[in-house]
Amino acid sequence: MTFTIMGGSTQQGEAAIRNYNLCIVGFGNVGKAFVALLDRKTQELRNRYGVGFRVTGIASRRLGWLAKPDGFELQKLLAGDFADAVNASDIRECLRLSAADAMFETTSLNAANGKPAVDYLRAALEMGAHAISANKGPVVHAYQELTDLAAARHRRFLFESAVMDGVPIFSLFREAMPAVEIRGFRGVLNSTTNVILECMESGMSFDDAVRQAQELGVAESDPTDDIEGVDAAVKVVALTNVLMEGKLKIDDVRRQGIRGITAAQLRSARSTGETWKLVCSAKRKPYGLISATVQPERLKLDDPLAQVHGTSSVIRFETDILPQLIITEQNPGLETTAYGLLADFLTAVRSS
Ligand SMILES: NC(=O)c1ccc[n+]([C@@H]2O[C@H](COP(=O)([O-])OP(=O)(O)OC[C@H]3O[C@@H](n4cnc5c(N)ncnc54)[C@H](OP(=O)(O)O)[C@@H]3O)[C@@H](O)[C@H]2O)c1
Repeated sequence: MTFTIMGGSTQQGEAAIRNYNLCIVGFGNVGKAFVALLDRKTQELRNRYGVGFRVTGIASRRLGWLAKPDGFELQKLLAGDFADAVNASDIRECLRLSAADAMFETTSLNAANGKPAVDYLRAALEMGAHAISANKGPVVHAYQELTDLAAARHRRFLFESAVMDGVPIFSLFREAMPAVEIRGFRGVLNSTTNVILECMESGMSFDDAVRQAQELGVAESDPTDDIEGVDAAVKVVALTNVLMEGKLKIDDVRRQGIRGITAAQLRSARSTGETWKLVCSAKRKPYGLISATVQPERLKLDDPLAQVHGTSSVIRFETDILPQLIITEQNPGLETTAYGLLADFLTAVRSS
């Protein structure tokens, strides 16, 4: 016999375990890393947190909408074996057939309007599931709407992985540092430009540096959004709108990419003990305004922002309580991003 407790269910004889059905939308790098992490953490979630789960829904562009009410085997999912799954016609049918208690949205970023991820997350909340995303698009385009909808449905909209992978930036200020006022921040938050500038510093041309970043798997086949600072601007908007009650749009960020930076500028900086980074920044202004910028900056080598290399990133917050709070993320991997989703899942089910 199974009976429901707050969106989960408890099996007789396992009174302390609450079981949840999970639906994963987007099954690329992050979706797969999340399933691998779930597999690795299954016993720990049961033993330490009393949380059990089954993955009952999975979707991607190529797979379509698949549901398996008795749960997919995680190892089979990772091997690409979706046998015995039921084909659903759309997100709502997939959520219904999978009886999802939580949906994890890991589809590609659409910086222009956040779609269709926003629609997927809205559907999840409307159908009574927690909505958890690794995608910046919905945070930038629908943070307030989805947060309000989640509150009305007694569910959570959480997105820790969207900026700086799984580093707990949003939950830090939400949970551990309530009533702190963030006055501004500065950060190096885009790996691709970091790698390109470093390659150029070592003597490569801009084009060779881009190719090198692609070969390392850091830059996408079309790295334009990174090079032009769009990805960084999206992160700035996500951070300001969530952490500083901003109402910025991507075009409100004063933005300059790294295309204009020359080898001569990089050499000249090195000769005076300085370096160039693509710096993201935001600052509170009078009358509730926030100014936000993405631009290449020449930094002293002892500046904490100058000390991140490769895919590492850093952010320095200025708050009314801690004048300088610096968070550095060294060499994140996909498991870091997957961990953000897992942490959000535990936050959601433990608070509802
Ligand atoms: N990779 C990272 O380190 C990282 C870190 C933090 C945040 N993120 C964010 O996490 C998300 C996923 O990144 P990723 O690296 O996993 O990307 P990815 O490998 O390209 O995977 C994207 C997945 O989304 C699916 N998808 C795309 N559009 C869809 C749609 N309209 N409906 C249903 N499924 C759709 C794709 O399906 P097909 O495979 O069938 O095309 C694919 O399975 C992105 O928003 C990214 O910005 C990534």
